Amino acid sequence: MVKVYTIASGKGGTGKTTLTANLGTMMAGYGKKICIMDADIGMANLGLILGLENVPITLHEVLAGKAPVSEAIYEGPNGVNVVPSGISLKGFQDADPEKLREVLMELVDTCEYLLIDAPAGISRDGVIPLAIADEVILVVNPELSSMVDALKTKILTELIGGNVKGVILNKATLENTEISKQKMEEVLGVKVISIIPDDPNVRKSAAYQSPVVIKYPNSDASVAIKKLAADLIGKEDYITAGTEEDEKFTTEGFLDRLARSLFRRKI
Ligand SMILES: Nc1ncnc2c1ncn2[C@@H]1O[C@H](COP(=O)(O)OP(=O)(O)OP(=O)(O)O)[C@@H](O)[C@H]1O
Ligand SMILES: [Mg+2]
Repeated sequence: MVKVYTIASGKGGTGKTTLTANLGTMMAGYGKKICIMDADIGMANLGLILGLENVPITLHEVLAGKAPVSEAIYEGPNGVNVVPSGISLKGFQDADPEKLREVLMELVDTCEYLLIDAPAGISRDGVIPLAIADEVILVVNPELSSMVDALKTKILTELIGGNVKGVILNKATLENTEISKQKMEEVLGVKVISIIPDDPNVRKSAAYQSPVVIKYPNSDASVAIKKLAADLIGKEDYITAGTEEDEKFTTEGFLDRLARSLFRRKI
């Protein structure tokens, strides 16, 4: 049975696309059949961050009825299957978001886990990924505005019959955190399932069009992402799996201090 996760937020720029690419890469590295899809058909950039921006057939062509989804699947790092969206305005105009549901139905037959990168905000094409997912994961930054927008997305998801699994607190820092983990859980009414630090290696790796878990596998963000990827597939022996030879990593240290600091801080 396939499991579908939609990675959503509310506010833009929280890290949805980055996390979709990295979690998908890592889950595939753990040996699962993973598909990641860019459902942000207006402002697509999943393909861009994985070096797939010039592929001939994308979700745009599929949603325009010009190609089957099987022709829009490309191989990414660790063998993750990627369905990018196009970046042209014309392609976006021709794409019919109503077809998304039927495309997703076809796609789920090709993998064990499907991760959908949802658009920011509340739009017509953004609602389908929220409704169709087994579980929606909200990516929130430690800022009030981000949390408020995530709350709207959570309410919308539940209104349309969807189910929110939890929150990824992304771009967390030891300083200048506007909001505590505890407050976030209280307000959103769901668990914070992962805290991912603000890590300059994430931006650096994007410049190489490579996921940070591949380019800088021992960086703080990669360590946190690897743990979350393992959790999402129910993998317990994640410590050495899916990493380069002899590489050992642990979630002790910076991440624990970060978690403690977020726990203590009051809004
Ligand atoms: N943990 C992190 N540490 C540092 N930078 C990060 C982190 N996560 C994401 N970023 C950076 O934040 C920016 C926005 O990330 P991304 O494009 O993934 O967000 P998004 O939620 O998909 O945005 P949009 O709503 O526009 O689709 C990028 O420059 C990315 O490299
Ligand atoms: Mg995005």
